[in-house]
Amino acid sequence: MVEINSGYLDLVPNYLFKDIADKVKALKSSFPKAEIISLGIGDVTQPLPKVCILAMQNAAAEMGKIETMRGYGPDFGYPFLIQKIQKNDYQDVGINIQEDEIFVSDGSKCDISNIQEIFAKNIKVGITNPVYPVYRDSNIMAGREISFLPCREENNFVPEIPEEKLDVIYLCSPNNPTGTVFTKDELSKWVEYAKQNKSVIIFDSAYKEYITNPELPKSIYEISGAKEVAIESRSFSKTAGFTGLRCGYMVVPKGLNGYTENGEKISLNKMWARRMATKFNGVSYVTQRAAEAIFSLEGKKQVSEIITYYMNNAKILKQALEKMGYTVFGGENAPYLWLKVKNGSSQEFFSKLLNQAFLVCTPGSGFGSEGEGYIRFTAFATRENTMKAIERLEKVKL
Ligand code: MLT
Repeated sequence: MVEINSGYLDLVPNYLFKDIADKVKALKSSFPKAEIISLGIGDVTQPLPKVCILAMQNAAAEMGKIETMRGYGPDFGYPFLIQKIQKNDYQDVGINIQEDEIFVSDGSKCDISNIQEIFAKNIKVGITNPVYPVYRDSNIMAGREISFLPCREENNFVPEIPEEKLDVIYLCSPNNPTGTVFTKDELSKWVEYAKQNKSVIIFDSAYKEYITNPELPKSIYEISGAKEVAIESRSFSKTAGFTGLRCGYMVVPKGLNGYTENGEKISLNKMWARRMATKFNGVSYVTQRAAEAIFSLEGKKQVSEIITYYMNNAKILKQALEKMGYTVFGGENAPYLWLKVKNGSSQEFFSKLLNQAFLVCTPGSGFGSEGEGYIRFTAFATRENTMKAIERLEKVKL
């Protein structure tokens, strides 16, 4: 008899997006000819930027020649990509991050769910409610105690600073699912809290490219002192359409420490480096060349066109929903719209929309109890499907 990790028993039976995918699959098998439109999972619909395709073709050709082929790459990413990240995402906006503080990975979901491994089981974790379920589920799997930080309309969906001491706090901005974005003031309060409590903030900024208001912070390191208290996770998925390629990175500053039981300081950067070297074999060379290409002048232009395309979807959808009388949050500086359901539960809204209009959304309750009464729409659809979704929403009785 092998004793199992009982943390798994405390999870809801299915991962949120798998549950929705199963429901859509079941509907498809009953109505094989139905055109089901998804405004559910935030998966991209626009092709990769052309610069990425070209970079991958060149890299693939290199892999085909004895003189230029590559085997295992460096554990933490090729210097050509790390240096581009360091310069473009940090140095050019006045943030000093060193090369060995950047860890290239196969995306934010993995980084964000794996990072908890370097902390003790008995730490107190603070997680917003509603939340991207990966933060919550990965800590439940590890058997940790979680304190939920409610994000409601009354607090503009921004978590309030708690009275209690939390050791690790997960923050996401632009937020998935509510589409809200921290102001510098709001984020500064969290950095101050973390400094006072010797806490660590895991800051997920996977959607940073959707911020158009220059007053809003794209990186937590725009806040003074944040390098002493925060890890930042970023992704090329939502920036440049890499959901099918997989590439992201995490910044673990060298000044950031954890403590042993006896109070001895330990570098989290060293711990994460040890973990990555042991458990990860790097992102493929071809993919890292594609990621590098988005930092070229032409790459930046192509990425910005894709972001504008999705943000126009968000604008069109938000305006149409408001015209239909819905209260909608987000959708500005973020690709997600958080819609207040008029009647019934978020699950009922989801089911009616799916079964009557063949339209997929994400029920807010799947993101936590505070998501009840809301549903999330994504702007990552094609324009055509966004327009069709609006037509269906106008017709369906919800
Ligand atoms: C979402 O829809 O919340 C995200 O696309 C899921 C993910 O990135 O893992």
